[in-house]
Amino acid sequence: MNMTPETIQHEEHINPKRFSFSIKVSIRYMFQKQRLLFVFVGIAIAALVSNVVVFPSTSSSQQSKHVSGSFRIAELTSVPRRIAYEVHSGHVNVGGRIPVGLKPKSLRVLVTGGSGFVGSHLVDRLIARGDSVIVVDNFFTGRKENILHHLKNPRFELIRHDVVEPIMLEVDQIYHLACPASPVHYKYNPVKTIISFLNRDHKTNVVGTMNMLGLAKRINARFLLTSTSEVYGDPLQHPQVETYWGNVNPIGVRSCYDEGKRVAETLTMDYHRGLNVEVRIARIFNTYGPRMCLDDGRVVSNFVAQALRKEPMTVYGDGKQTRSFQYVSDLVEGLMRLMEGEHVGPFNLGNPGEFTMLELAKVVQDTIDSNAKIEFRPNTEDDPHMRKPDISRAKELLGWQPVVPLQEGLPMMVSDFRQRIISNPKEGGSS
Ligand SMILES: NC(=O)c1ccc[n+]([C@@H]2O[C@H](COP(=O)([O-])OP(=O)(O)OC[C@H]3O[C@@H](n4cnc5c(N)ncnc54)[C@H](O)[C@@H]3O)[C@@H](O)[C@H]2O)c1
Repeated sequence: MNMTPETIQHEEHINPKRFSFSIKVSIRYMFQKQRLLFVFVGIAIAALVSNVVVFPSTSSSQQSKHVSGSFRIAELTSVPRRIAYEVHSGHVNVGGRIPVGLKPKSLRVLVTGGSGFVGSHLVDRLIARGDSVIVVDNFFTGRKENILHHLKNPRFELIRHDVVEPIMLEVDQIYHLACPASPVHYKYNPVKTIISFLNRDHKTNVVGTMNMLGLAKRINARFLLTSTSEVYGDPLQHPQVETYWGNVNPIGVRSCYDEGKRVAETLTMDYHRGLNVEVRIARIFNTYGPRMCLDDGRVVSNFVAQALRKEPMTVYGDGKQTRSFQYVSDLVEGLMRLMEGEHVGPFNLGNPGEFTMLELAKVVQDTIDSNAKIEFRPNTEDDPHMRKPDISRAKELLGWQPVVPLQEGLPMMVSDFRQRIISNPKEGGSS
C-alpha cells in the first residue's frame, strides 16, 4: 500500500502502536521528490504575506509613539508636515493600500490679511498647490478684487473678521500677515487719524498676533509671522543680518509699526519656547508687484502711480537713502519654503540689490515715461538711511534667493497699475 499523510493519520487513529513507524514514514515522505523544498518555499511566502499585508511596516519610532499613547505634533518634527497632520488626527495610513475614498488630505491653511497685496499672491500659490485656504481679513487695506477669482473655488473660504478678536478655526498652518503695513496712514491726517491708526497698528500686531498664536496652540498648527526689516530701525550695521538687534526709536511716529512687529516677534518666540508652538519668523524687506495699494505711501507704488498719472514723483530728502526691492513672487516662494522647512528663523527675505531713491526714480522713468518729473520734499521723521538684507541664512537653510530683478518685475507691476488707473481713475485717490 502506498503511504500518504492521510493514510498515515488514519492508521494512527486505528492503531496507535504503529505511531513510531508512521513518523519515520512521514520523514521519508518529506525527503522524497523535493517536498522539503516546497515546505521552505511555503514558509517564506507565509512570512512575506504576514509582514506586508497583515502587519504593515510601522516604523519603530511610530510604534514607540503608539506605546506612549499621545500624538503631539511637536514630537513629529521629522515627519513631513502633511503626514504629521494625518497621524495627529488619527487618519494615518499605516501602510498597505489606502482604503477606497480616503485619499491623502490636502493641507488646510489660514492666511490672515489674505486679501492684501502679499496675502493674495500667497493664496494664489497655495490654491495652485492643492491646499484648502481660509482667508481672514477685515479689508482695512485689503481688497476683495485681489481674491475675487477664488470665490467660487470649493477649496477657498473668505471670512470678514478683525484679528484683534479671537476666532476658532481648524487648520494645519497659519500665515499671519494681517497688519496695516502702509505708512501713508501715518501722514494723511495729522494727529487724530495718526493716533487712531497708531493704536490700531499696536493692537493688530500685539493682540492680533496673540490671538493667532493662541489659535495655533489650541489646534497644533504651525504659525508663520510676517515681520519686517523695520525691526532694524535706522540700522548701524550694513547690510543687516538676522543677528543684528537694530536701532529703533521707541517713541517716534514709526514706532507703532516697528515696535509692534518687534513685540510680535517676541510673542512668537515665547509661544514657541514656553508653549511648544511650532513657529516661523520672516523679516520682509521692501516688496513690490501687482495688487499693491495705489498711493499707499510705499515708494515703488507712489512713483509708479505718479508717473502713470503724469504727476511728479515725490522724493523725500535728498533721495540718496537706499532700499532693496523684491518682487512679490520671490517673497511668496521664500515664505512657503520657510513654512515647510525645519528652521524657526528669523529669516531676512528681501532682494539684496540696493538702489537709491533717485536710482529707483530713474528705473521708473525708463519703464513708464522718460519725461516723468521728480519733486523733492523734506524727509520724514526716522526715515532709515539705508536698507539691504544679508540673505546668507535664507540661501543656506532654505535654499532660497530672489530671481526677479527690478527691471523685470517693475513692468509687471506697471501694467497692473495702468489697468487699474485707467478702469478706475479714483482708486486710491490722487497722491
Ligand atoms: N509689502 C512689504 O513691502 C512688506 C514689508 C515688510 C513687511 N510686510 C508685512 O507683510 C504683511 C502683508 O503686507 P502687505 O504689503 O500685503 O500689506 P497689505 O496692507 O496689502 O495687507 C495687509 C492685509 O491685512 C488686513 N488687515 C489689517 N489689519 C487687520 C486686522 N486687524 N484684522 C484682519 N485683517 C487685517 C488688511 O485689510 C490687508 O488685507 C504685513 O504683516 C506687513 O507688515 C510687508
